[in-house]
Amino acid sequence: MTENKNIIIFDTTLRDGEQSPGASMNTSEKIQIAQQLEKLNVDIIEAGFAAASPGDFDAISQIAKTIKNSSICSLARAIDGDIKAAGEAVNAGGKGNRVHTFIATSPIHMKYKLKMDSAEVIKRAVHAVEYAKTFVDDVEFSLEDAGRSELPFMKEITQAVIEAGARTINLPDTVGYRLPSEIKYMVEQMVGFVDSIKSDAIISLHNHNDLGLAVANTLAGIEAGARQVECTINGLGERAGNAAMEEIVMTLKTRQDLFPGITTNINTKEIYLASKMVANITGIEPQPNKSIVGKNAFAHESGIHQDGVLKHQETYEIMKPEDIGIEKNNSIVLGKHSGRAAFKDTIAHLGFPDLEDDKLIIAFNRFKAICDKKKEITDDDIRMIVADEQLNENKTFEVEAIQISDFSNGIPSAVVTIKHEDKLITDASIGDGAMDAIFKTIDRITGYNGTLIDYKVNSVSEGKDALAKVNCKVTFDDGAHTMLGHGLSLDTMIASARAYVGALNSFLSVQNMLEKTQQK
Ligand code: KIV
Ligand code: ZN
Repeated sequence: MTENKNIIIFDTTLRDGEQSPGASMNTSEKIQIAQQLEKLNVDIIEAGFAAASPGDFDAISQIAKTIKNSSICSLARAIDGDIKAAGEAVNAGGKGNRVHTFIATSPIHMKYKLKMDSAEVIKRAVHAVEYAKTFVDDVEFSLEDAGRSELPFMKEITQAVIEAGARTINLPDTVGYRLPSEIKYMVEQMVGFVDSIKSDAIISLHNHNDLGLAVANTLAGIEAGARQVECTINGLGERAGNAAMEEIVMTLKTRQDLFPGITTNINTKEIYLASKMVANITGIEPQPNKSIVGKNAFAHESGIHQDGVLKHQETYEIMKPEDIGIEKNNSIVLGKHSGRAAFKDTIAHLGFPDLEDDKLIIAFNRFKAICDKKKEITDDDIRMIVADEQLNENKTFEVEAIQISDFSNGIPSAVVTIKHEDKLITDASIGDGAMDAIFKTIDRITGYNGTLIDYKVNSVSEGKDALAKVNCKVTFDDGAHTMLGHGLSLDTMIASARAYVGALNSFLSVQNMLEKTQQK
């Protein structure tokens, strides 16, 4: 069995995570997450599925150009067109990245989905790996639905793809069906088989969470010799999601007694920021009682627990909040008299050390404007102000002012002023409510008709004067494009208008990118 005890962390937040209903992200959002994954020291970032759309291709290429320390990977079906797109996208950065190709190996998938016999599946898999090798050295092959595949066939196809050049063999429990004892057995068998054919290929796991067992299954596989694990931040992913990276990494760290010497390269102090960023961008907040990163994960409600923790932290805490990057006290850090240097210092400490000067000035001015109206400014407020500026970099249209009348017995109406190409445009509309009137007015001014399909508002901190954070999903072009929008303000209406306009700006970026691709 393998002596190597370092577990390769393969993060698929930007690919499988994006397959979570409603989690689609634009290129600049994906780049931000990739940069945070790099800070986490993730070994491999699966940045998308290059053949899925020009937007995916563009995002993977740009991430491959931006990220220096993690390897960038694209998924590809065992189809030449997919592999070519994946190979070209990951090579955009001009360095050794990875192509991840897959075909289903379970009887049910082969019979009903692929309509292929096992010999055809092996032929396709071998060709896919050989073709992928013409683009990159590092090829991963997945036996889709390995969880329901038969071991003799799994071994046969594994030998064939290893001979074709695959160095990572991934065994997805695609439908989240298996129990830890079964995964342990499957991995033991497959690690033993790979050793028996004298290959140094690595066995990898990719577990889905349909029965709530994804992390337990992943840990059982690590015990059995798997040396790569595929996971996502906050456990995002198709249906019930994937194994949550923060849970796997913190379990390995906390239970070294049971995983002696097993390590990862993850800088756990970046976990909390990564979780916040993914939640903020996708609008999918982890449930409050979610392990490691949920709002209540380190909150001790009962007096007995509080007393115990104060006397000795380990009485009721098996990990320290600081280990995942939660500062001890999320209290007032800056006030209205603070200067730009103090603001810069604080945001560097909060995880944004490289903010460019122009963005720093904009964020600082927003912070000052908020200080005039809000008594206490917390770390989370400041973090959200900076994140909001980063998420709304495209300012084709900008909300300047809003005035609403929303009488319980009258007709709700809104007057909105939007800045576009340095001109201020004002218009008004009535609606079914104040929010509807605002969105209708924005449509009139911009000339684009959006349809709001999801809307969420959260408060960033506590108190009546808390900042409102709005995430909305808007479709354009009769439902052909769905975009996420983000807005932050002390006023919920303004935050909503900003989120709606943000979604429109993202849509315009995508249109722009599509036009450029077509002109090539
Ligand atoms: O769940 C799955 O089987 C996958 C593969 C494509 C790796 O996501
Ligand atoms: Zn998956």
